[in-house]
Amino acid sequence: MFKRIPGTKDILPEEAASWQRLEKISRDIFSVFNYQEIRTPLIESASLFNRSLGENTEIVQKQMFIIQNKEGLYALRPEATASIVRAYIENNLDMVRKFAKLYYSGPMFRLERPQKGRLRQFHHIGAEAIGSYDPNLDVEVISLLDSLLRGFSIKDYKIKINSLGCAKDREKLKQILEKSLKSKLSKLCADCKIRFKKNILRTLDCKQRECQEMLRGLGIEEKYLCSDCDEHFIDVKKGLDKVGIGYEVVPYLVRGLDYYTRTVFEVTHKDLGAQDALGAGGRYDNLISELGGDDIGAIGFALGVERLLLIAESTSQARSPQIVYLITLGEKAKNQGLQLLDSFRKENIACDTDYEAKSLKGAMRQANDLGARFVLILGDDELKKNVVTLKDMNSGTQEEVRIDGIISKIKLNLEPRT
Ligand code: HAM
Repeated sequence: MFKRIPGTKDILPEEAASWQRLEKISRDIFSVFNYQEIRTPLIESASLFNRSLGENTEIVQKQMFIIQNKEGLYALRPEATASIVRAYIENNLDMVRKFAKLYYSGPMFRLERPQKGRLRQFHHIGAEAIGSYDPNLDVEVISLLDSLLRGFSIKDYKIKINSLGCAKDREKLKQILEKSLKSKLSKLCADCKIRFKKNILRTLDCKQRECQEMLRGLGIEEKYLCSDCDEHFIDVKKGLDKVGIGYEVVPYLVRGLDYYTRTVFEVTHKDLGAQDALGAGGRYDNLISELGGDDIGAIGFALGVERLLLIAESTSQARSPQIVYLITLGEKAKNQGLQLLDSFRKENIACDTDYEAKSLKGAMRQANDLGARFVLILGDDELKKNVVTLKDMNSGTQEEVRIDGIISKIKLNLEPRT
């Protein structure tokens, strides 16, 4: 027996309907905000991620699926922002229209220790707006994120925001931390001791209570921001207030990727438990130039689809399409049925039939299991009279309908397909 690799999931037909629902809602909302879809490969040069996410980030250090080959190292993408910036530069999208609003969805891969809400293959729905430093764009992107969550009927989520400032401010923040933590190093947890050396900003979102208390006690809130970045952050907050988006400023929100500058944000939900982030994002104003493009600002986010579904499942039920189920009795009816099914499908009416030679009773049970709205029975008697027996599964009533009138009769009674 072959088994799934730990941390991967089969999305079975009954779950696929919820996935399709999220995908459809998100496509509609992205188009309202005028974002266009981009699809990039699942494999990229590993160095793209080393360079973008940062050599010392947890993802690059421990979580990349690497494929070694003659041309060097490839990696399964752990996230899509770096790939999209690569595609934006490589395909000269900046020549076509410098400012681009893009969205994407698809699988991402991280070699993590699997647990609830933490997978090795998971899915993102995300957006990237490339080509502007305007704080109103930050407001639009956070508002898009908020609209998606509301569109998915998710309630009680929290949007947390912070500003990391520009590259210089980040350096300043690192220095403040270095200075303040040096004398307290022995009190930090083992991981933070390593972070102190390798990636000191990550100490700020350590989950250990002792470390958290010590770091909160340092009182470094926004003190590292230069006047431009401070102003930018004030404008973002004012904009969010104007469009009525609730948020909380969390001074210790740093995010685990090196490319972030200025605004960073995270959406959390208490029902998720330990892995409580539904999604996250922020500005990455230096990434485009670092990867060989122009000096232009950008901002984006990604939502974790599996985590969205953990929350959304309890709040809504996906609707299945209304189906017509045809039961044929005898060889002749079976052949006539083939044509009938074909004409239903050409009229965009969802239908199915029995391929397992079930008895009438068994076929009716199958129709019931499928949640059929109508059952059609076609046997020798019906064929002689040129009719079909139509059973309305809602009311339980049954009548004979002429074969040439069955499509219009059913169309009258089916809800339009969306
Ligand atoms: P991220 O915070 O690494 O950001 O991932 C975004 C979301 O993906 C997380 O909040 C979480 O919901 C989900 N996620 C991450 N790892 C896993 C996992 N192992 N299993 C299940 N879900 C997971 C990014 O990836 C950035 N690219 C977001 C971004 C876009 N920033 C700017 N633009």
